[in-house]
Amino acid sequence: MTNSGPRIVAVSSGKGGVGKTNFVANLALFYASLNKRVLILDADLGLSNIDVMFGIAPRFNLKHVLSGEKRMKDIIVNGPLGIMILPASSGVRELTELSDASRMRLVSELDNFDLPFDIFLIDTGAGISDNVLFFCSAAQETIVIVTPEPTSLADAYALIKVLSRDFGEKSFRVLVNTARSDKEAFDTFRKLAIVADKFLGLSVDYIGFLPYDQHVKDAIIAQKGYIAMYPNSAFTKKLVGIANKLLDNPMNDIKGSIQFFLKKALRVK
Ligand SMILES: Nc1ncnc2c1ncn2[C@@H]1O[C@H](COP(=O)(O)OP(=O)(O)OP(=O)(O)O)[C@@H](O)[C@H]1O
Ligand SMILES: [Mg+2]
Repeated sequence: MTNSGPRIVAVSSGKGGVGKTNFVANLALFYASLNKRVLILDADLGLSNIDVMFGIAPRFNLKHVLSGEKRMKDIIVNGPLGIMILPASSGVRELTELSDASRMRLVSELDNFDLPFDIFLIDTGAGISDNVLFFCSAAQETIVIVTPEPTSLADAYALIKVLSRDFGEKSFRVLVNTARSDKEAFDTFRKLAIVADKFLGLSVDYIGFLPYDQHVKDAIIAQKGYIAMYPNSAFTKKLVGIANKLLDNPMNDIKGSIQFFLKKALRVK
């Protein structure tokens, strides 16, 4: 595995409920098991759930940072294996549409955040809300999760379209979740790749697929990490493959840092 400096990766999707949070949680667990310092930002600001997935109940969250009551370092919680989590709040409607001032506050708080990390994973909400677009365009790279359902594909295309057309993003990785075979996964990716190429002139990158596995739900209910509970499953093997591929092939040849995030975030409206 190469060591190409800190990485800032947003995980997003057009359609909701396609497996972003589960992927981020398990990816974080895998990287943490390699002694990487992992920071997760729960950027699904209206309906958070990364904390629920890890079975932790944070006292403070981003809402308190945005209101000025707390600093970023005060809200951070430690998840399993030392994973650092910046929790969002659940059910706070005003957070689903952050004002420019709130975004600037978030960005300047991240600027003053001096805990070192190797990988910064941003679990965005679904869709093409301003928040989702903001976090995707601020990250170094975006992984778009799709499932084989046509609605998920159409919504993923819409997200990629807006990010490329309005935010100048040109590089996307696609992860197919809940596929039942290699073929189904690749066919799904190909459909998206064809329309992205034809209508947007973009070439999107296939990072792999995760199979459908009913134990994913069991692990979430147990609030234990899936890959720790089922280390030898096909899902875990695929996840490890994707995680290594991601580490070995940074999408943009730029060293990641909070400053990078800031610069990009600041040029986003
Ligand atoms: N590979 C999989 N196999 C089976 N079930 C899965 C798989 N991935 C995710 N799920 C299930 O799909 C549901 C949604 O997953 P998750 O919460 O990670 O999605 P999400 O994209 O983060 O949703 P939201 O858009 O609401 O944030 C969960 O119940 C989870 O158990
Ligand atoms: Mg989620």
